Amino acid sequence: MKALVYHGPGLRAWETVPDPRITAPTDAVVEITSSTICGTDLHILKGDVPEVTPGTILGHEAVGIVVETGAAVTTVERGDRVLVSCITSCGRCRYCKEARYGLCTGGGGWILGHTTDGVQAELARIPFADTSLYKVPEELTDEQVLFLADILPTSYEVGVLNGGIAPGDTVAIVGAGPIGLAAIMTAKLYTPGRIIAIDLATPRLQKAKAFGADLAIDNGVEDAVARVLELTDGLGVDVAIEAVGIPQTFELCAEIVRPGGTVANVGVHGKPAVLHLEKLWIKDVTIRTGLVDTFSTPRLLELIRSGRLDATVFATHRFELGDTEQAYDVFGNAAETNALKVVLSAAPVPQARAPRKEAVTV
Ligand SMILES: NC(=O)c1ccc[n+]([C@@H]2O[C@H](COP(=O)([O-])OP(=O)(O)OC[C@H]3O[C@@H](n4cnc5c(N)ncnc54)[C@H](O)[C@@H]3O)[C@@H](O)[C@H]2O)c1
Ligand SMILES: [Zn+2]
Ligand SMILES: [Zn+2]
Repeated sequence: MKALVYHGPGLRAWETVPDPRITAPTDAVVEITSSTICGTDLHILKGDVPEVTPGTILGHEAVGIVVETGAAVTTVERGDRVLVSCITSCGRCRYCKEARYGLCTGGGGWILGHTTDGVQAELARIPFADTSLYKVPEELTDEQVLFLADILPTSYEVGVLNGGIAPGDTVAIVGAGPIGLAAIMTAKLYTPGRIIAIDLATPRLQKAKAFGADLAIDNGVEDAVARVLELTDGLGVDVAIEAVGIPQTFELCAEIVRPGGTVANVGVHGKPAVLHLEKLWIKDVTIRTGLVDTFSTPRLLELIRSGRLDATVFATHRFELGDTEQAYDVFGNAAETNALKVVLSAAPVPQARAPRKEAVTV
């Protein structure tokens, strides 16, 4: 089969590799029909995630058809269409029993495209198939459910639920990439009073408004702290969601949260941030962190099925699986291409070789 193989920092290739085989009775092999690329894949390619060893197939988000199951798999069978989530769950460890699958100690957690071969491929071996795959309702297209593999549960669980957003709250979302935008989309399920998006890039702020942010602050040209305090009678926001992953934006969230409020950190950080306890000790703030668990995937799937959420708006560019390398170039150059998520499809994609520049509308 063909797959996108990581060969060390800066090196990747769509090449022929051996087909995956069942190696444990709890495995399934899935034929990938749609996949996508995550910002985390770009981090891996920069060499920021050293656990990923050269030779690993990348990718942790996909939809596909089960083609083979191990002897112990009982809930999915050959022919089932399934969502392959970024988180795999052993279903048996202490954390899986608490639905905290991201912390799985039984061999699951984030393993696909990380510590085992991933899903930017024609076929993929999925460990713990019974507890890690989600059957896709027949009436939904791949593209309707694909972003349930990572960004929607991530932003919903680690941003919105950890932030404890309640009706009427003022919510600041720092960073308006796919994760920040998915946080805007799922925060709206809780009817916040106001959503304030903060980013440095004008096209991203325009997207944030299109996704439902009430206000957009460009912290490259404006003092975001002063503006947020002015908007909240000097108090700060009820919930600040960090969706970038750098010290400045975490520290910004800690500055704009009101006394008694919550900072929900979603960003993956590579450097230490300063925790200003000399200011925060008296403010009774809650700071939450975490990897997505994906316990909310069935609920989000139901919201999509019932028409309450439409995740297809994240798909800005479409490619055939065989053009995955070109898709990386477009996704990795989002400042130029305005890409949010690219869809990699096993089916033919009309004009896949000529992606147009995405128009930005507000
Ligand atoms: N916790 C989890 O489980 C989890 C899962 C997936 C992704 N993530 C992380 O979430 C973060 C966001 O992911 P993404 O795919 O949306 O990333 P992205 O790079 O596409 O978007 C980040 C956004 O932040 C903006 N930004 C950069 N510097 C800024 C600054 N100083 N102030 C304000 N805005 C700034 C950028 O313009 C961009 O729009 C990343 O760190 C990613 O690794 C976490
Ligand atoms: Zn991801
Ligand atoms: Zn487990």
